[in-house]
Amino acid sequence: MIHYMNLVPTAFSKIADGSKTIELRLNDEKRQRINVEDTVVFNCSLTKDIIAAQVVKLHKFSDFKELYNALPLEKCGYTVAELDTAHYTDMEQYYTKEQIKKYGALGIELYNVSSICDVKEIITEPDILKLLAPSVYNPTEERLLNRAKKCQEDEETNVYVYKEDNEYKGIVVFEIVNNSATILDIAVKPEYQGQGTGSKLIDFIFNSFNAQNITAETDDDAIGFYKKYGFIVADTKVEFDTKRYVCVCGSVTHHYDLLIDENNDPVHDPKPLQNYMDKWDGQVFIDKMELNKDKSVLEIGVGTGRLAVRVAPLCGEFYGVDISPKTIGRAKDNLAKLENVSLTCADFLSYEFGRTYDVVYSSLTFMHVEEKQKAINKVATLLKDGGRFVLSIDKNQERFIDTGTRKIRTFPDTPEEIKTYIANSGLLLIEQYETEFAHIFVATKE
Ligand SMILES: C[S@@+](CC[C@H](N)C(=O)[O-])C[C@H]1O[C@@H](n2cnc3c(N)ncnc32)[C@H](O)[C@@H]1O
Repeated sequence: MIHYMNLVPTAFSKIADGSKTIELRLNDEKRQRINVEDTVVFNCSLTKDIIAAQVVKLHKFSDFKELYNALPLEKCGYTVAELDTAHYTDMEQYYTKEQIKKYGALGIELYNVSSICDVKEIITEPDILKLLAPSVYNPTEERLLNRAKKCQEDEETNVYVYKEDNEYKGIVVFEIVNNSATILDIAVKPEYQGQGTGSKLIDFIFNSFNAQNITAETDDDAIGFYKKYGFIVADTKVEFDTKRYVCVCGSVTHHYDLLIDENNDPVHDPKPLQNYMDKWDGQVFIDKMELNKDKSVLEIGVGTGRLAVRVAPLCGEFYGVDISPKTIGRAKDNLAKLENVSLTCADFLSYEFGRTYDVVYSSLTFMHVEEKQKAINKVATLLKDGGRFVLSIDKNQERFIDTGTRKIRTFPDTPEEIKTYIANSGLLLIEQYETEFAHIFVATKE
């Protein structure tokens, strides 16, 4: 499971460089969900830099006084010079005495720390130039410096490195204009290739820069890497007798926005197509929600309202959430006549709903979710006691949606994993069945 936390720049640098290996937090509800081996992603509060680290140990105390007596403070962010004056009341600048009394203190011990950081200002450092060398033709010192300076001068150009064990292992240089990114250079040291570093750098562009699509130009040597990630070849050309590929990868949000531009709206599909879509859910799926006019319902990934048009008239309050702005816009039109409907454009994983529901359901959406345990835990927190979760997962195990003009990465679901995630979340699985194209799960919150 992945947990997200913010860090001020000083603490961020100390964790990134390995001098701080224990992060101190209140042991509140959010932190109580952390387990050993989970991943924590720290966002720097001032920049787009990120750290990913794994939890090796959780140190729990009734307050920070106990924690300060028990843990080595030089691992908690204090320098040797600061140790004499370090005091547990230092934590009271972040948390009130009441909060500390209520929740207690937590030391999150980290290992496997890696970071992705902006190095545009320091790109001329020899270690970074070395990373850039494979992307420069005949990389003499002069050529490399010229390339580096060009990156620094161009306002739209970003330079980020992947750092692990205090070593720069990969670099990406990209431009971003109107949410479209173009990779200018991407390189991983040969000894670290095949370990997912290149993919992490591309994930970073999608996530931290909110890129709708990423374009890259490459050759026969690297096209395999891009295809494996989910890029499709949009064009080919020949330069200096070498075949070049222009490849593109889209984000989920952009894909569904484009589907609306392409006038794809299942609510208005002809009847035979609607019947076909029922093979992922249908009336039996809706019946499993056990709806009545007293019930509040949330659909995760509501789309343009294919299921909502049937569910909303059967319940008291209907809420739909979807990550694609254009899709939510279309859903608002399709459901305008139903007065009990509220729709929100958001990523359901990060959105604070601020309430609970009698029924939460989702169909044809979980293949877009990478963090499935986190998603099902979130569903568990969104349900009222006695509430019901009805989930349809696609049997399709393709790792991409390929429209012919764009390819979107997906995270196929397996019924065994979903069963485990449901059990881990504390929900009780009461029924599981199959349709032609999907596995359906019905779970309750006891
Ligand atoms: C294939 S459509 C299914 C729509 C609808 N459930 C149906 O079956 O007709 C998947 C939908 O999930 C939405 N989606 C994907 N990831 C999401 C997320 N993290 N939060 C909210 N919506 C998401 C997409 O924008 C898209 O509208």
